[in-house]
Amino acid sequence: MTTTNPATPASAPSYSPGLAGVIAGESAISAVDGESGLLYRGYDIHELAVRASFEEVIYLLLHGELPDTSQLEKTREELAADAPLPGAVRSMLKLMPPRAHPIDVLRTGVSMLASFDPELPDNSHAANLRKAMRIIARTSTIITASHRIVSGQEPYTPGEHLTFAARFLFGMSGKEPEPWRVGAMNLIFTLYAEHEFNASTFAARVTASTLSDIYAGVVSGLGTLKGPLHGGANEEAMKMLKEIGTPDYAEEWVKKHLAHKDKIMGFGHRVYKKGDSRVPAMRDLARQLGRRLGHEQLVDVSVKLEEVMAKEKGLYANLDLYAAPALHLMGIPPELDVPVFAAARVAGWCAHIIEQHDHNRLIRPRSLYNGPAKRAYPTAH
Ligand code: COA
Repeated sequence: MTTTNPATPASAPSYSPGLAGVIAGESAISAVDGESGLLYRGYDIHELAVRASFEEVIYLLLHGELPDTSQLEKTREELAADAPLPGAVRSMLKLMPPRAHPIDVLRTGVSMLASFDPELPDNSHAANLRKAMRIIARTSTIITASHRIVSGQEPYTPGEHLTFAARFLFGMSGKEPEPWRVGAMNLIFTLYAEHEFNASTFAARVTASTLSDIYAGVVSGLGTLKGPLHGGANEEAMKMLKEIGTPDYAEEWVKKHLAHKDKIMGFGHRVYKKGDSRVPAMRDLARQLGRRLGHEQLVDVSVKLEEVMAKEKGLYANLDLYAAPALHLMGIPPELDVPVFAAARVAGWCAHIIEQHDHNRLIRPRSLYNGPAKRAYPTAH
């Protein structure tokens, strides 16, 4: 029996499972070139990665242009001033079960923050920008504060003079981080900050498109980022690297898992089919950190995995394959890998939510119905 599908009249756009290749909206925030490149507001990610501070990246994503010296200083000051959490949110963090995953704690914390923001219902451009700064600053604070609480320490509030990346590291450890560590964190944040209509950003935009508030959009983004096919891949890649342990075992491990049709974490990408443009910078960073700290083994495992996956599956590494060892070498525990991703990507989410609110049209696609044809309700039921 055939069913006339109301979602697919002759003039309807063709169906693409998983929305692969579908253009779902316009954006001026970033451009992903599936062959090679990634631009934030027209600037090459490789230049930004080595030359820009994360505060500059945040300003660029939110405002569309790089900041001048005084705008940059004001951005840094605002982020530092906005970083402390309302007392009730700090108290809530202490109520979370210690076994809760930090990304779930973060999602709960951002959701709670919404109710403390007096500008919550105001979706105007100016109010959204102010709220974005508060959300970006406090996302990092929730991560560092809850990490310290779970480790049996009091949350630490770093001094206001620090850069964003230094504040994050200081907030984690309570110790002033070395400049090389701050530089590495800055690079990781920059590479993770934005990537056009990835799953979490799209989720954030769908939420914003109902004219729900910026916090709700970020909470949607956080819930979507968690999954291992998206942001959760960095934590899963770390588990894999530890399990493999040595490059000599990589080939056997990959073949065994491919034979079971397992997805190998840190490989493949919906858009990049010839390699992720962010990988060379993250690979270099992981290598430099490995050399500096005398632990290159997991970087060597990642390199070997790249070789084996290219040969066995024709698949290339994505950012998460090298983010995992880089974060490990930075002393970040694996359960904080996804939250670190979120601490950076929240800048991209906020820029997208603001863009959505500024040029809104409800995002509401159709489905291709494949259920039973119309039928009568049974008389004797
Ligand atoms: N390991 C093993 N096989 C993989 C793979 C991976 N990481 N990524 C893709 N494939 C396989 C698919 O199974 C499929 O094989 P098939 O044709 O035999 O069924 C083929 O490659 C094409 O992949 P496809 O499913 O079309 O890719 P996608 O665009 O739907 O999915 C990802 C993209 C990112 C979800 C997918 O590559 C993946 O799951 N990667 C691992 C998780 C990860 O690292 N995520 C972070 C992304 S930045």
